[in-house]
Amino acid sequence: MQHFTKNLLEWFAQSHRPLPWKETKDAYLIWLSEIILQQTRVEQGLPYFERFRAAYPRVQQLADAPEDEVMRMWEGLGYYSRARNLHFTAKHIAYDLKGKFPDTYEGIRALKGVGDYTAAAIASFAYDLPYAVLDGNVYRVLSRYFGEATPIDTTAGKKIFRRLADDMLDTKNPARYNQAIMDFGATHCKPKQPLCATCLLKNDCKAFAENTVGTLPVKSKKLKKITRYFHYLIINEGENVWLKKRGAGDIWHKLYDFPLIEDQATRTLEELKKTSEWMDFFHHKNILIQKISRPFLQVLTHRKIIAVFIEIKIKENFEGEQYGFVQAPRTTLDDYAFPRILNDYLKDDVLELF
Ligand code: ADE
Repeated sequence: MQHFTKNLLEWFAQSHRPLPWKETKDAYLIWLSEIILQQTRVEQGLPYFERFRAAYPRVQQLADAPEDEVMRMWEGLGYYSRARNLHFTAKHIAYDLKGKFPDTYEGIRALKGVGDYTAAAIASFAYDLPYAVLDGNVYRVLSRYFGEATPIDTTAGKKIFRRLADDMLDTKNPARYNQAIMDFGATHCKPKQPLCATCLLKNDCKAFAENTVGTLPVKSKKLKKITRYFHYLIINEGENVWLKKRGAGDIWHKLYDFPLIEDQATRTLEELKKTSEWMDFFHHKNILIQKISRPFLQVLTHRKIIAVFIEIKIKENFEGEQYGFVQAPRTTLDDYAFPRILNDYLKDDVLELF
């Protein structure tokens, strides 16, 4: 066994991080936990995992749950395509695969929403198959330990790290090894303020010796985030408000939001009134502007969203159906899955009223 692997497993034997998905060999529950944990920290994902497991202990129950309910359960985790894929894949397993979770790497990898990392995690955790996980945690640990500065987001880098990861795997106990390197990356060899002083691997760690821990791993590109400017129209008609279920091909597919005017910058009310959307919605209609919010911000992976919310009272029939809008009593908004920025506004709004 490699020196690296031996020391890592020694660290793992002493570290205590009891996690519910470590206690099971149920591939469905392991898959569920890994989908939840994709791009989510363990502390944040844990309560979601517990709620999903309680509501849908078996894949059949998740498959048969209404889609809106699944989206609602997911609310707050972000990256909603993960929730849609989760539901889609549950139905695929329950019906196309007759309830039998795939038990080969290729079969697992073929599931929608499952990439190389997640397939290796499920294959090793559930079936003890010898596949090494490679995710952000693993890139970081390996790049530091081996002093490997090839950028991780290049073809050359991916090849080098894939090879290192495979070489370090303990093929006799891949589940334990994979969990060890994930936990080590998440809790010890952390992105910021890694715990080098107490590290069992520091004597052989090249980055520690060369004082490059802070600069590894290297990435070639920095993401430039594009900003989008949303103006949400909260059209209050009696006790009801108009909502829109978001469509495919844009962020937040299948979540609900409000009628929306998007523009190149945040606009004043006077400017908004001149837009074609506003004129189309409200021309010759008897409306009252009740309130305009401060700008709210939500940062996504590739986008920044700045949204203002405009509360409008309309005193006649709005006929929003023609735009694909649906009406809901304002008191039932808790039943809908909204993007976080809407919940931030609605929460703020309640605070203001009381
Ligand atoms: N992040 C994703 N999967 C994980 C796992 N199995 N253990 C700890 N952190 C994780």
